[in-house]
Amino acid sequence: MKDKKIKKDLLSLKDYSKEEIIKILDMAEEIKSEPGNYSDILKGRNIALLFDKPSTRTRVSFEVGINQLGGHCLVLDSKNLQLGRGETYADTAKIFDAYLDAVIIRTFMQETVETIAENCSIPVINALTDKYHPCQILADMQTLIEKNLLFKKNLKFVYFGDPNNVSNSLLVGFTKLGVDITICCPKSLKTDEFLMEFLKKESAISKNNICIENEPTKAAFGADVIYTDVWISMGQEEQKEKIEMMMPYQVNSDLLKNARPDVAIMHCLPAHRGMEITSEVLDSDNSIVWEQAENRLHAQKGLLKFLFDRQDDSK
Ligand code: CP
Ligand code: NVA
Repeated sequence: MKDKKIKKDLLSLKDYSKEEIIKILDMAEEIKSEPGNYSDILKGRNIALLFDKPSTRTRVSFEVGINQLGGHCLVLDSKNLQLGRGETYADTAKIFDAYLDAVIIRTFMQETVETIAENCSIPVINALTDKYHPCQILADMQTLIEKNLLFKKNLKFVYFGDPNNVSNSLLVGFTKLGVDITICCPKSLKTDEFLMEFLKKESAISKNNICIENEPTKAAFGADVIYTDVWISMGQEEQKEKIEMMMPYQVNSDLLKNARPDVAIMHCLPAHRGMEITSEVLDSDNSIVWEQAENRLHAQKGLLKFLFDRQDDSK
């Protein structure tokens, strides 16, 4: 069973240092530029992807990435496992531990990925929960580094819309790296207070500035990067009443008039065109969403190498 001293999982970037995040991003870039040098680093390793929610990018990029690194990938759907008939995640984790080398899971509660990690010795990767989406943010950071934006002096990065798993992970990742971030959302929508407490402490160390702004025009003013995500996340389908309140936070050409002319537009995708972002903006020259999506593949390859190297070093 798990040696508690070895940090073997990626459940949230909260557990990671700036140096560790940079190491993953460096590996991602190295594998992206020299893929041939890494075509068998997962040889003989069996890795499962388990989905309790739909996915396109995460599923395909992990499956292809594992294959490109020489590993074998199994895609599992909890409805067709005994999980669907009530076997617990803890018991299922013990079975995964016996057969697999790593498990990547997309589910609802953050506690579920924690339970799986506690009940097996193999690396567990959070592929999105209601609370965090760390793999997405690694790809976002890689994209911003490629654009020479992440460590730009006085960078103004603004997330518009629903405070959710993506904005939580952006807040954590940027704070770890000491990069300023603004969240622009309606006053009534708040980032989890425990997370804000954690960020306050981390921010005092990393010296980044976290700004919560409710006025869209003010938030967009002079922005270098504008990021948005869906207003209604998976599992929140009954919260349709939020839409009206969110309309002033739509990323559209009017909002962009306040930003820098070369503002980079980001979205983790899938996009709801005409809701959180207009097609005009999503398809514009300012949009870097397709590069961002491609980097899911590369960032996750960097992550897998990082986790297995660490596991091998600890043996
Ligand atoms: N951005 C993201 O995680 O996309 P999928 O839901 O398609 O995996
Ligand atoms: N916040 C979104 C992200 C999708 C990748 C959701 O959880 O549905």
